[in-house]
Amino acid sequence: MNAPMSAGQALPARPRCDRSPAWGLLQAHYRQHYQAPPGFDLRAAFATEGAARVARHSLSAPYLYADLSKNLIDAQADALLLQLARECQVEDYRSALFAGLPINQSEGRAVMHWLLREPATGQDLEEKSAFPSASPWDAAINSIANAKQEVQATLTRMLALAEQVRADGAITDIVNIGIGGSDLGPAMAVRALDALRHPGKRLHFVSNVDGMELGRLLQQLRPQSTLFLVASKTFTTLETMTNARAARAWFLAQGGSAEADAPLSVARHFWAMTTHVEAAAQFGIQTTLGFWDWVGGRYSLWSAIGLPIAIAIGAAGFRALLAGAHAMDLHFRQAALAENLPVRLALLDIWYRNFHGFGSRCVAPYSHGLGRLPAYLQQLEMESNGKGVDSAGQPLPYASAPVVWGEPGTNGQHAFFQLLHQGPEPVPVEFIALRRPGPDLPGQHPRLLANALAQARALMLGRDRPDDPQRAFSGNRPSSFLLLDALSPEALGALIALYEHRVFVAGAIWGINSFDQWGVELGKQLAQDLEPRLASGATEGLDASTAQLLRRIGA
Ligand code: F6P
Repeated sequence: MNAPMSAGQALPARPRCDRSPAWGLLQAHYRQHYQAPPGFDLRAAFATEGAARVARHSLSAPYLYADLSKNLIDAQADALLLQLARECQVEDYRSALFAGLPINQSEGRAVMHWLLREPATGQDLEEKSAFPSASPWDAAINSIANAKQEVQATLTRMLALAEQVRADGAITDIVNIGIGGSDLGPAMAVRALDALRHPGKRLHFVSNVDGMELGRLLQQLRPQSTLFLVASKTFTTLETMTNARAARAWFLAQGGSAEADAPLSVARHFWAMTTHVEAAAQFGIQTTLGFWDWVGGRYSLWSAIGLPIAIAIGAAGFRALLAGAHAMDLHFRQAALAENLPVRLALLDIWYRNFHGFGSRCVAPYSHGLGRLPAYLQQLEMESNGKGVDSAGQPLPYASAPVVWGEPGTNGQHAFFQLLHQGPEPVPVEFIALRRPGPDLPGQHPRLLANALAQARALMLGRDRPDDPQRAFSGNRPSSFLLLDALSPEALGALIALYEHRVFVAGAIWGINSFDQWGVELGKQLAQDLEPRLASGATEGLDASTAQLLRRIGA
């Protein structure tokens, strides 16, 4: 399906962040108050500011509360970062996003995942004010109206299909075959919302081209009771197409038929979600849900790619997920910069990456349901902002996305928290906790929460042991604490949209195109060259290391 508007429309200017006055002021402020002794000390900051510090560095947003007060930041740095956001024209760039302008310049595409969660009815927000020239905006806004109709029609059909599967007692296993954005978002959300899952449906996610994943799963399945969902924006991705063909071959070997009207047919047991509907038809798939090239892969769980979520939690649950995300969209669009949680989190990211020089951020969800959130965020943040050139192709003279990593608490405490507490380099930690427990053994929830709170406190407070350096904790280690009301579809939707907008703001300041991913291409091409060499043993033209590895593999 085509983008609703073309490239070449006027885009807001993107000033280089490191040339703005605020950048220089932040550098000077950092040198004076953080680098030079005695430096910034969280314990001293709390002793001086007390509750006022918490008030100033805490924000409420839809379905969640964020306490950012345990970060290595002071009021002056906060003010300068907000000045940086203004000088980098984040608000104009945000307007361009919500006006549907083609801000994904390298691919000439608009970026409109937010449109997927707009309610069918309701007032459209005016986005013209930032740009005086009316004509391109009028064109864009008309196109959005058209796109919105298509979105609603597809959503209605998708939810009807989801309800059809839920009502079909013959189908017990749904296998999503996809990778990257066609896997991580739905897999993360289905796990998070497992308490609401239809009890008669098991959802499986297969992504890896390693045959162990699909092979093991197929051993547990029966073709009669399995629905395969082939999820691929492009319908060309090597892993997905390899697994989809393998699943179809298994299905046919188990008595399935390529004839559409056979009782056990590929047409009934294989569906697709893709922008490339013709390719799905060539595969033998008749039930295809389409979406649009203005939905980036890692932003696609709100589209047809979310079908497994809708099957798991039903149409009403999926609409609640969209509503939570939409509430966060409104917060992002309407809240003043200082009160805007995605903006404040992104500014903290900039502060840590470009001034403190921190190279990674740990995400620690104290929720087993959010166990796949770190993996999901790795793609969202690192594929979006892990870039070394700006949107005009100029090399960046400053760092961009940090490495994002993590595991759920309390497991992480028994693995890598040692480094967080006593390793030589501070790593900002993001705790995510739920106010209300899920239905499983809720008696354990206070223990889980106590551990999250304790870790954040321990990182900040540290412990003096002049007599025993092995047992001493330096403290003064930064963390943020995000508190969700509960793991409801609304809260999860809001949380994901929060991260999407945070990535957008950081990318806006860094001057990056956050919506392409050219960095994944080279490895794909080289793999195409290497695969036949594994069979032939040919090593001509290869570097000595790869050639030797090929020989070893073949030996
Ligand atoms: O890893 C590159 C990438 O293009 C991701 O951006 C995308 O989410 C993933 O591959 C899967 O792509 P597709 O949905 O087209 O199969």
